[in-house]
Amino acid sequence: MIPAGPEGADFQTIAGQLGALLEREKRRGRKFLRWGPAGRRALAALEGKADPGLLLEQLNERIRKCRRCRLGFDRRQAVPGEGPAPAGVMIVGEGPGEEEDQTGQPFVGPAGELLTRMLQAIELPRERVFITNVIKCRPPENRNPEPGELQACFPFLKEQIRLVRPPLLVALGGFAARTLTGSDRKISELRGRSFSFEGRLVIPTYHPAYLLRSPENKRPAWEDLKKIRRELDRLGA
Ligand code: URA
Repeated sequence: MIPAGPEGADFQTIAGQLGALLEREKRRGRKFLRWGPAGRRALAALEGKADPGLLLEQLNERIRKCRRCRLGFDRRQAVPGEGPAPAGVMIVGEGPGEEEDQTGQPFVGPAGELLTRMLQAIELPRERVFITNVIKCRPPENRNPEPGELQACFPFLKEQIRLVRPPLLVALGGFAARTLTGSDRKISELRGRSFSFEGRLVIPTYHPAYLLRSPENKRPAWEDLKKIRRELDRLGA
């Protein structure tokens, strides 16, 4: 029997268990087991051969249906994120705002426009970057995400990182930076430093929405962007 996964167990764990079970049964000569598409996908995932785009789409479906916290009941729609997989860099923001909740796409409002320009400034086309948030549903009135909401959503981000495999993660703003660094410090204390998350480089910087309100911080943000460019070149990403 496949042990029941905890709620929210990630797809690859379940696929891995299913694949292992099917493999064992096959070795035992159990001919009655038919290898349908789901079984083949499970085995492919187990062997690390599955198409990350397909696995991401399956993950997105789970995110869109998620009701792990109250945000899942208040949102118009969840915003899983978008971009290529694999990708050299993943941008992690805070959470969807009004426009994102309406369109289902990340960073499409004024902060998104600034983010696109920031990426262009270091010759990084937005389409080459995977863009997501620490929480996938808009908090009412754009309030800050609560600790329980961040915790409930964290497994989705971890699974995205595993599927997209970015050598570099850019954390935009305090919530993303604290989530990915494990620190409880303010973004002004975390930016300018480098961290690691599961072996991947993490560069925290100011959130573009904050930069729109506090343009005096554009200079340190520009230093961070140049560092991102240098690290991408160094990593060959
Ligand atoms: N839009 C997003 O998708 N994320 C943010 O953090 C802000 C705006």
